[in-house]
Amino acid sequence: MITNKISRDGANESPWQEEPGSVKSVSNSHSPATVYDCLIVGGGITGLTAALLLQKEGKQTVIADAHTPGFGTTGGTSAHINTFADTTYAEAEAAFGAEGAQLFADAIKEGMGLIKSNIENYKIDCDYESKPGYLYAENDDEAKELADIYEGAVKVGVTVQYARDVPTPVPYRQALVFEGQAQFHPLKYLKALHQAYVEAGGIVLENKLIESIVQENGVHLAGDIRAKSVVYATHMPPNINVFNFECAPYRSYVIAAKLHSGKYPEALIYDCQEPYHYVRSHNVEGQTLLLIGGLDHKTGHEDPEKAFAELEKYARKYYNISSIKYRWSSQYYVPVDGFPYIGQMPFTADGIYCATGYNGNGMMLGSIAGKILSDLVCGKENKYADVFSPSRVKPIDGFTEFAKENADAAYHFVSDRFNFRETDSLNRLQPGTGKLVEVDGRKIAAYRDDEGNIHALNPVCTHAGCIVNWNGTEKSWDCPCHGARYDIDGNVLTGPATHNLKKIKNE
Ligand code: FES
Repeated sequence: MITNKISRDGANESPWQEEPGSVKSVSNSHSPATVYDCLIVGGGITGLTAALLLQKEGKQTVIADAHTPGFGTTGGTSAHINTFADTTYAEAEAAFGAEGAQLFADAIKEGMGLIKSNIENYKIDCDYESKPGYLYAENDDEAKELADIYEGAVKVGVTVQYARDVPTPVPYRQALVFEGQAQFHPLKYLKALHQAYVEAGGIVLENKLIESIVQENGVHLAGDIRAKSVVYATHMPPNINVFNFECAPYRSYVIAAKLHSGKYPEALIYDCQEPYHYVRSHNVEGQTLLLIGGLDHKTGHEDPEKAFAELEKYARKYYNISSIKYRWSSQYYVPVDGFPYIGQMPFTADGIYCATGYNGNGMMLGSIAGKILSDLVCGKENKYADVFSPSRVKPIDGFTEFAKENADAAYHFVSDRFNFRETDSLNRLQPGTGKLVEVDGRKIAAYRDDEGNIHALNPVCTHAGCIVNWNGTEKSWDCPCHGARYDIDGNVLTGPATHNLKKIKNE
């Protein structure tokens, strides 16, 4: 029986990590002699949705999570459930045509419907609430964007209207309202899927890192786990792969605050700024909180402390905040052409599937990915399989972005290795902080703990050799190239790296 508070991939706690109930009768061992129908790597919303569907289809499955279910982005999401997405329907149509945009809208709606039907079927108490979603423009350029968003949404049949009264203190010029949006407690939902999965005979292996898959006699072999098919539900699949060049990792920030007024908006509210802000409320453990988030940036590229400081400044400018209860960040992946990659993984053996590139829409896209992957494993047709195929031919527009993201990673690889200029010495390192330093000509990722001990690591990312940067808010070493993250002792928190940073001994 698991009763612990859920852990996640950073030092900051999200409100979801408070004990959301326990999973009983967990099966935590597998049989090396059994050939499972499917090995699912990763126990977030994608992995557990796929695993539960497969198990209900009569398949014998096993989930291997490098940590514990919910440790990754599902434990740090702000849990919006929308009928619209970061890739607007207008952008989707420009890149993938009218049919592609319609399929994208249908997939989002179906992902949302899957969450709702799971909540009904499994009687999940996860604070699910339906609310209107407002998107507002503060200037002429944003108003033009809003008009495109409106037209794109109407074309694919998504209900949207121009709004008169947006429940925001921010002065705005124009706004849209999308009725029927929703929010929930992601880890209460995940725990319930986990419970349903083990009750259906599923196996969850915790702290089980899958480093690689080999083929033996027509079977996929991951260590001592044998399976007919494999699903990577890890966002970025491990090691060097095509997605290192097709998805860019981003960090997103959230604070949860109490207001003096006690009046919290009963809506999901978004601005059109770049990077954007959003606001919603949630009752956590009996107290209502205002969640204010956004200010996303590429992982390892900007100072997370600065992002939090700016977010707090923004929050205090518009809301009369009495206290800040939580602040946390999480990671997501932006696909180069705007659509997620879900399906057979390119350049690997048949029957190895993956799902990544959800942008900031992981709840709906992770859910529909679970359904698509489950259908693919079962050999069933799925109408989204082609449009989200990781092997799809990218639209022309996508190449611009592709080149940009790719060039960025290449820049970090070259410049980080050969132009390392950090000259700070270890003795200036304050307790509780980390920094890249150079000691006797040797580059070190150094962290000084509260007792004064130095945790010294080789800063070369074990994925493809970029130099990691310190994330002072989550107390992690974040790689600017493809988003791998490590804790203060070099242990992998987030892939695609599968090996820890090397420790440097005090000599
Ligand atoms: Fe690819 Fe670090 S994540 S080099």
